Amino acid sequence: MVNLNRSRTTVPPDKNSVIFLDKGLFLVEKGTTRMHADAELISSEFITALKELQKRFSLVIVEESGEQDTAAKASMNAILSRSGVDITTTLKDVEAQEGTNRAEVFPLAVIDQFSRSNSIPPERRYFLHTGLKLTCFSDERSVGTGSYLPEILTLSFHTYDDLISWILSHPQPYRNLRMALQRGGDILAHGGLVAFPTETVYGLGADATDPNAVKKIFSAKKRPFFDPLIVHVSDRAQMLPLVTELPEKASLLITQFWPGPLTVVLPKSALIPEIVTAGFPSVAIRMPSNPLALELIRLSGKPIAAPSANLFGCTSPTTARHVEEQLGGAYDAIIDGGGCTVGIESTVISFVEEIPRILRPGGIDRAAIEACIGKVVSGEQASPEDISQSPGMLPSHYATATPLRIVEDLTGYASRKDVGVLLFGTGSQVFSGPVEYLSLSSDTAEAAMRLYQAMRRLDSLSLSLIVVKLLPEDGIGLAVNNRLQKAAANLQ
Ligand code: TXA
Ligand code: MG
Repeated sequence: MVNLNRSRTTVPPDKNSVIFLDKGLFLVEKGTTRMHADAELISSEFITALKELQKRFSLVIVEESGEQDTAAKASMNAILSRSGVDITTTLKDVEAQEGTNRAEVFPLAVIDQFSRSNSIPPERRYFLHTGLKLTCFSDERSVGTGSYLPEILTLSFHTYDDLISWILSHPQPYRNLRMALQRGGDILAHGGLVAFPTETVYGLGADATDPNAVKKIFSAKKRPFFDPLIVHVSDRAQMLPLVTELPEKASLLITQFWPGPLTVVLPKSALIPEIVTAGFPSVAIRMPSNPLALELIRLSGKPIAAPSANLFGCTSPTTARHVEEQLGGAYDAIIDGGGCTVGIESTVISFVEEIPRILRPGGIDRAAIEACIGKVVSGEQASPEDISQSPGMLPSHYATATPLRIVEDLTGYASRKDVGVLLFGTGSQVFSGPVEYLSLSSDTAEAAMRLYQAMRRLDSLSLSLIVVKLLPEDGIGLAVNNRLQKAAANLQ
C-alpha cells in the first residue's frame, strides 16, 4: 500500500534508474484515446505499465510543494491503492525561480534537484508525461557540436506497450540513441540501408547519390522502379546542389515549413541518379523535423533517399515495430525513436509547372500553403493521364490486408463481431466488434497521428472487414481521408 503523505527523498540503491511521473498522468483523461470511451479513469494499461516498470526502476511522482489536495491527487491515491502499485518515492520540493514559466520549468527543475541529491546521472533519468511522451536527458558532455540532438529529448509513443519495450531496450537512452545514430550514419555512408523515424512515418534510407544503395531500397520494399523516392536533407544548403532551379515560391515554402512535413519537387541536378527519380527530370526533396532523422542524415554526410518503410502498397509504419513486422531483415540497422507524431506522410508539391501542384496531400494543409504562396492546384483536379506525375497518386495504396470500407453510417455494422471500426470522435453506438478510437476529442491531427497504428491493429485481428466514416476535411483531415480512400480503393 502506498502512503502518499510520506515524502521520501531517496531511492533504493538497487533501482538507481528513475522514472519520474507527471502528476497529470493520474488525472481523469477524458478526451484521450488510450482508454475505452466510457472508462472513468486512465486505462488499465497505465497501471500495468507502472507495475512492469517498478520491477526495474524507481518511480517518482513529480509533485509541487505545498499543494492542496486536488482532484488529481485524490484520483491518484485511488488508482494507486486499488492497483497495488508501489510508488516507492514521492517528491515535494523546489520553488520555481521568479520570472520563469512555472509550468514548463517546474517538473524539470524538480527532476534535476532530486536527481542531483540522489546522484542519479542524466542517463538514468526518464520523465514520463501526458500524451505518452517520454523525456530523456543527456549527460551535457555527450552532445557534440553541430548535433541536431537537443540536450533534453522527448519521444512520443502510441501505446504503453511500445513505451515500456523502448525503455527496457534503452537502458541509457541518450547514449544508446547516439551510438545507434553514429552506426546508422556509417552504414548509410557505406552504401547500406537504415530504417529511421521521421515526424511523418518511418523511412527506409540509403545514400541518394549511390545508385547501388538506392536499388536495395526497391528490392527491400518490393517497390516498382517507376515509383520515385523522396530525398531527405538535414539543411537547406544540402539541397541546393541537388536541384538546377529554386523558384521563388518553392523557396518561400521551404523557409516557412522546413524542417517539417513538406516535400518539394524541383528540376534535378546530375548529382541525383535516375533510379531515385524513376527517370523523371525532377527530384522530390524534404528536410524532416525529427531530430533523430536530422542527426542521422548529418552523420552520414549524404542526402538520403527514403520512402516509407513498408512493403509497396501497404500501410505506412509509425513505429519501429511496424517496420520490423514488414521489412525485418531487409535493412542493416533501424533507429527506434518511438512513435511518429504527425503520423501520415508529407505533403508533396511540385514546381515543375507554372502553377504549383499538390501531388499528395499530407502533413501541411493546402490552406497553409496558399496563405504562403497564393493559389496552387491539387492532384485530385488533374486529368487521369497526370497520374504519371506521381505514382503516389495511384488509386490503391496504404492498404490493410483486411478489406477496408468507407461508409456513411456505421449503424449497420454495430452488431458484427467480425467487423472492426475506426472511430473518429466518441460515437453514441456500442459496437460488438473491436473499435479503434482515432480521436475521442475529434481532433484531426490526433487522428492522423493514430491512423496507421489503428489500421494495423485492426488488421491484426483476423476480421472480415474494417469500416470507417470519412473525417471532416479541415486541416490534416483531407489528407487522412485521402489515405482512407486509397486504402479502401480495392473495395470501392
Ligand atoms: O513523409 C514522407 O514523405 C515519408 C517520409 C519517410 O519522409 N516518405 C514517403 O515516401 O512517404 P514514399 O516513397 O512512400 O512517397 C513518396 C511520394 C510518392 O507518391 C512518389 O510518387 C512521390 O512522392 N514522388 C517522389 N519523387 C517524385 C518526383 N520526382 N516527382 C513526382 N512525385 C514524386
Ligand atoms: Mg509510401
